[in-house]
Amino acid sequence: MSKTIIISNRLPLQISIKKGKLNVTPSVGGLATGLKSFHRDGDSVWIGWSGLTAEELPENLINEVTQKAKDEACIAINFTEKEIEGFYYGFSNRSIWPLFHYFMEFTEWESWHWETYKRVNQKYADAILKNYKDGDKIWIHDYQLLLVPNMVREQAPNATIGFFNHIPFPSYEVFRTMPWREEILKGLLGADLIGFHTYDYERHFLSSVSRILRHQVNFNEVSLPERMVKVDSFPMGIDYNKFEQAAQDHFENSLENQSDLQRRLDHHRKGAPGAKLILSIDRLDYTKGIAHRIRAFEYFLEKYPQYIEKIRLVMLAVPSRSEVPQYQLLKKEIDALVGRINGKFATVSWTPIWYFYRSMPFNNLIDLYASCDIALLTPIRDGMNLVAKEYIASRKDQTGVLILSEMTGAAQEMNEALLINPNNFEQIADAINQAIEMPEEEQIKRNKTLQKRLKRYDVEKWANDFMKSLTKTQETRQSNKAIHISKDIQESIFSDFKKSKNRVLFLDYDGTLVNFVDKPEDAKPDKELITLINELANVENISVVLISGRDKETLGNWWRESNVELIAEHGVWAQKPKKDWRLNENVRNDWMESIRPVIDAFVDRTPGSFIEEKNYSLAWHYRKSDPDLGEKRANELSTVLKDLISNHGLSVLDGNKVLEIKSSEVNKGKAATKLLLKKESDFIFAIGDDWTDEYLFQELPDSAVTVKVGLKNTSATYYVNNTRKVRELLQGFLN
Ligand code: ADP
Ligand code: G6P
Repeated sequence: MSKTIIISNRLPLQISIKKGKLNVTPSVGGLATGLKSFHRDGDSVWIGWSGLTAEELPENLINEVTQKAKDEACIAINFTEKEIEGFYYGFSNRSIWPLFHYFMEFTEWESWHWETYKRVNQKYADAILKNYKDGDKIWIHDYQLLLVPNMVREQAPNATIGFFNHIPFPSYEVFRTMPWREEILKGLLGADLIGFHTYDYERHFLSSVSRILRHQVNFNEVSLPERMVKVDSFPMGIDYNKFEQAAQDHFENSLENQSDLQRRLDHHRKGAPGAKLILSIDRLDYTKGIAHRIRAFEYFLEKYPQYIEKIRLVMLAVPSRSEVPQYQLLKKEIDALVGRINGKFATVSWTPIWYFYRSMPFNNLIDLYASCDIALLTPIRDGMNLVAKEYIASRKDQTGVLILSEMTGAAQEMNEALLINPNNFEQIADAINQAIEMPEEEQIKRNKTLQKRLKRYDVEKWANDFMKSLTKTQETRQSNKAIHISKDIQESIFSDFKKSKNRVLFLDYDGTLVNFVDKPEDAKPDKELITLINELANVENISVVLISGRDKETLGNWWRESNVELIAEHGVWAQKPKKDWRLNENVRNDWMESIRPVIDAFVDRTPGSFIEEKNYSLAWHYRKSDPDLGEKRANELSTVLKDLISNHGLSVLDGNKVLEIKSSEVNKGKAATKLLLKKESDFIFAIGDDWTDEYLFQELPDSAVTVKVGLKNTSATYYVNNTRKVRELLQGFLN
């Protein structure tokens, strides 16, 4: 039976060694806590780091670690200290983490960190491949494993691979500063589906793909030569029932079963009439805005002194990544801030901040969620923030106020919270005041809506949505009308070819025989191609017809010495081998003079674009322009032109980063049909990559072998992935 392979840097369990014995604890952090229930309830295996280094793990405990992981359907991988230093404390947490959270001043670019990151990603990919069977789905998680999707794809080209990024994806302007940006994007594009928490992260990613790799992006799909990659947003939910149930149990708990923490919390509330508790929980991370929060709380106490002795901030900071210098500095900063503020405001019976720097068991977490009147979460940047959702889910009586930074992914779904800008202390202080004063009915009204939404879109729904969408990418791949040319199909094409006597091969040029380049004039045929075409054209009973949108001068010059027939400008011109050009269609070009100035105006306003003037058509190229601007201007120009040319027998062709205005009478299908009328043929083959070739595929007889290059919708019978495969296929006709 097929399974899902989940893979993330950290397993949901962390193994450490205490006094020679293994100690297993649950992992902290949104990814591990969130995915746990999907893993628990489904048929999946989870691969990740055990938390131990190879040096720490004595030989006699290796099997035990494997077994502990296996008990929870996990496969533990161990890394050496050096690997963890370069990969985890290095590239993951000193380069990607700060960059993706817009802390550019904290990013470090060490090439040995990058090299180790690549090596460890390869180890993860190898671990997947070792456990992978045909039909399995692979779900890769988070920023530590950005290269894994493509590493797996290279070894298992047909695998179904999903990737989810749990942290923000920064804007192109920030992402482009990364020295290895191309490799990172290519790594990710190995997946069939890439998921983000919010539409903004999705948009930023697509913009980087189109600007840096220059791939075509249509809505939320990236067209690679051989595949489509879908990109979408799926805001991660929580295991709602678990928190709801835990809160219920919490209230039903008898007094003697209460935790010490709970007793202290109750003591505070009973200490003064109207006493309130404000809660904050995060990993100790500079992205969480902990220092901002404490300073804003200080400002609140100054601005609203009536709450002194009545309000307390209960702050839980979980130790995290403590070998990264920025985290060590942050720890010092927070310790000092808490000390200073407690010293400044404390009275004999009251300290304003209770600060815990440690992990806590789940039931204590619930004590905190259930007992605190206000949750104050102020990240400067946070991919999602599950704590905000957990707090709301744990409010059994539906009271409580959530104050949430608008810089978190969660803020986009939690409009009923008091949303604040973490840099605006005035706003935070006022929001705390508003939260304290908010009538219970209003609290309940807001939380009711929030709870309903969180319950509906819980983590199970999130994971199922992602998986459904991933399965669909596979179905789309399989339902593509054209059939991939397998070895068997290839053999049968070659056998028909051999049996036939008069063969005609229609070959498109750009995107078929050669790859696209920035400047059309740079796409000259290379030696290998010239040899291949000449060898084909010199075989008796093969007519090679190069059929292209290019102007006749360029095409004629490039193929002057060859024994090929040429059709230029989509069919306006035709040329027999080594003969003169003749006009194939009776077309006019007197319209060009009036249309050209219109396009000129677009060239002026669209840097990088230019006009190509052919004999009977005008082409506006924008491959080198900013991709977004290019698409926008192309839409505008197309509308303007369609208005201008209506009733003039002209049409606007929307090609690959080019708009072309030409006579509606002319297309490759017509030109090919005309040529075939004058020729005996019992084997017709046509290959092309863009929609101007679709005319060819549609108009040729059904018996013709028609082949599309790439995966877009097509009327061709077959497809191949890229120009390299085209050349291999053509080479086959010679064997
Ligand atoms: P991040 O993923 O950046 O750490 P999130 O708020 O999305 O931030 O996720 C934090 C997760 O870690 C939550 O699910 C929360 O319940 C859990 N968590 C936070 N603090 C503790 C703690 N002290 N003990 C156990 N789990 C914790
Ligand atoms: C965030 C990241 C996770 C990571 C978690 C804890 O949630 O998105 O990938 O596991 O923080 O961080 P750590 O470095 O301890 O794994």
